[in-house]
Amino acid sequence: MKQTVQTKSGRYEIIIEKGAFARLAEEIAPIVGEGRLFVVTDDTVDGLYGDALRNHLSGMDVHYLVLPHGEGTKSLSHLSQIYSELALADMTRTDTLLAFGGGVIGDLAGFAAATYLRGIRYIGVPTTLLSQVDSSVGGKVAVNLPEGKNLVGNFYPPARVIIDPELLKTLPERVFNDGMAEVIKYGAIRDEALFTMLEGDISDKMEEIIHRCVDCKRRIVENDEFDTGERMVLNFGHTFGHVMEQLYHYQKYTHGEGVAIGMKRITRKTEEMGLTRPGTAQRLETLLKKYDLWFDESGFDRDAAMKTLFLDKKGSKDCIRYVIIEEIGNAVIRPFPKQDTFLID
Ligand SMILES: NC(=O)c1ccc[n+]([C@@H]2O[C@H](COP(=O)([O-])OP(=O)(O)OC[C@H]3O[C@@H](n4cnc5c(N)ncnc54)[C@H](O)[C@@H]3O)[C@@H](O)[C@H]2O)c1
Repeated sequence: MKQTVQTKSGRYEIIIEKGAFARLAEEIAPIVGEGRLFVVTDDTVDGLYGDALRNHLSGMDVHYLVLPHGEGTKSLSHLSQIYSELALADMTRTDTLLAFGGGVIGDLAGFAAATYLRGIRYIGVPTTLLSQVDSSVGGKVAVNLPEGKNLVGNFYPPARVIIDPELLKTLPERVFNDGMAEVIKYGAIRDEALFTMLEGDISDKMEEIIHRCVDCKRRIVENDEFDTGERMVLNFGHTFGHVMEQLYHYQKYTHGEGVAIGMKRITRKTEEMGLTRPGTAQRLETLLKKYDLWFDESGFDRDAAMKTLFLDKKGSKDCIRYVIIEEIGNAVIRPFPKQDTFLID
């Protein structure tokens, strides 16, 4: 399956196919041309797929850089390391960078590509479910600062994205389920048929599921590439999810787990308020349980949560805008008075 994303600076293709990794050289050839390739990956992905990758790219002139895995790698120091290695390898604007890994490698290598020599081509080959359905689409690239996540970044579309669902088979269950939270989110906000599919047996449906998620994100980012409007619906469950992640210093819940808690919480509340069709929260909760995304978060510190929430939304004056679902597949953005603490209560 192939999708084309139209951006202000041009268009790029996303290829979603089982076995696309084995055909990598062929898939990237139109982008790389006669130039050289600079691959950035992490040590876990390299341990699992490095030999196969070198084998698939054996006919090309390739420079490899393997970084440690984990969020800590999305840092200025690793960014600086990539710049130095690019320079030492004499990479020029006719060469291409390829990010082979999860969202950490994609965001970091994408930002390096966006800025090195004022921008060189890059190709994304995402290897986690989260990166296949979310971070590799939409052109947001970034690194973290000690002061906060994603504080330095850019909008820089890739030249091509190649997604092979087969690569997901080696993911630890918790990392897979982390991505499932975003998959469930797409179903909840825009695609009821996807949501229904997730309620059944998905074992041989990953390609179709990824395709539907990418299609959903593609349509939203094409309408709002620079995140000034509609793109906000992608944040369904994220406001309270961020609060949970931050309250426990990113140690207790993964990002997806935070989003799952956020989606459950806001939908239960909006259903009680009569803003969401009755039965929706129950359906969402049953699906979250199926993918081990069900948590009892009730023991959190309410004062600290309130502070974190208002810090997160400090730009808004009298009201806070939340993404809610009126029913499965239909998200809307709705303002709530700032003093309304319904998410915390
Ligand atoms: N740019 C965007 O639009 C966007 C959107 C969402 C998230 N993000 C960013 O994505 C990052 C999180 O991405 P992530 O969840 O992919 O994390 P990650 O890149 O850290 O990957 C998670 C773990 O899985 C391992 N791994 C990767 N592929 C594997 C495979 N096929 N088999 C086994 N193990 C594998 C990695 O080595 C890592 O240890 C965060 O930094 C977040 O800010 C960006």
